Amino acid sequence: MSTLAAPAVAELHEEVRELAHRSEAVILAHNYQVPEVQDVADFVGDSLGLAREGAATDAPVIAFCGVHFMAETAAILSPGKTVLIPDLDAGCSLADSITADQLRTWKAEHPGAVVVSYVNTTAEVKAESDYCCTSGNATEVVRSIPEGTEILFLPDLYLGLWVERVTGRKLTIWMGECHVHAGIRPADIERWQEDSPDAELLVHPECGCASQCMAFGNERTHILSTEGMIRFAQSSPKERFLVATETGILHRLSKEAPGKTFEAVSERAICRYMKMITLEKLRDSLRDMKHEVTVPAEIAGRARQALERMVATG
Ligand code: 13P
Ligand code: SF4
Repeated sequence: MSTLAAPAVAELHEEVRELAHRSEAVILAHNYQVPEVQDVADFVGDSLGLAREGAATDAPVIAFCGVHFMAETAAILSPGKTVLIPDLDAGCSLADSITADQLRTWKAEHPGAVVVSYVNTTAEVKAESDYCCTSGNATEVVRSIPEGTEILFLPDLYLGLWVERVTGRKLTIWMGECHVHAGIRPADIERWQEDSPDAELLVHPECGCASQCMAFGNERTHILSTEGMIRFAQSSPKERFLVATETGILHRLSKEAPGKTFEAVSERAICRYMKMITLEKLRDSLRDMKHEVTVPAEIAGRARQALERMVATG
């Protein structure tokens, strides 16, 4: 829910659109952004869709309403464009769970292994990686690597376990987690199983409960990226969905699949980093051309191939 009254939102939307027009900026927003930020964006999507959109746009300025690693990804894929983030503190606890030094040590312990990094990593970690992936194409990226190659998969433990299960490939997995998704407990799912037999359950693979869902083998349970959830809800004949991911997705789901009901499995699943981006900060960002996100050319150069593989897969 917005803390702003409707007229204030409408006024800020107008101001933001005018500033974006003047600076020839495209506004990209992640599915977890607050509703009023999603509603003013040119494009709303998951991390894969946003990376593709950022790489493809002709706009000289990208105002990125998401978290820092997403803006860095746009900067790496679009050298020469100005990438802005409305709040530089919008980080990601999962991306913080592995440093480039830790990855270098891990690689030294596994000579010959190929590194697949989730996009939720810093540019320095991507520069040490062979492939990047998102939850939207992790299985396809892993399948594209020749059988028999050791794969170091990082940093999300639960995503890694899910990819292992779906692809049948053995991965060496880093033990990182997203505090928001890991906080959705198996008990939240069990309650749903008992209380709502008429609903479909949409679960993000970063969830701590995802492996339990897989074990349930329930045909009403679907493990999907955020964009996968949108596509699923649109095409499903079902009316009611319980959603196990960050609650910002509920706004987009309701818009894209009108007439259907979406409820959060856990109301506590709120990413404080995603919620740091507000309409006022977006307005200030476009007005003052701040805060520019840049990646040193040497790091960007080494990270680009892994990201280009990600954008091209799936
Ligand atoms: P998606 O790739 O599904 O958009 O998820 C991004 C993310 O940060 C999950 O927490
Ligand atoms: Fe990072 Fe988790 Fe927030 Fe996604 S929800 S941006 S993984 S902290």
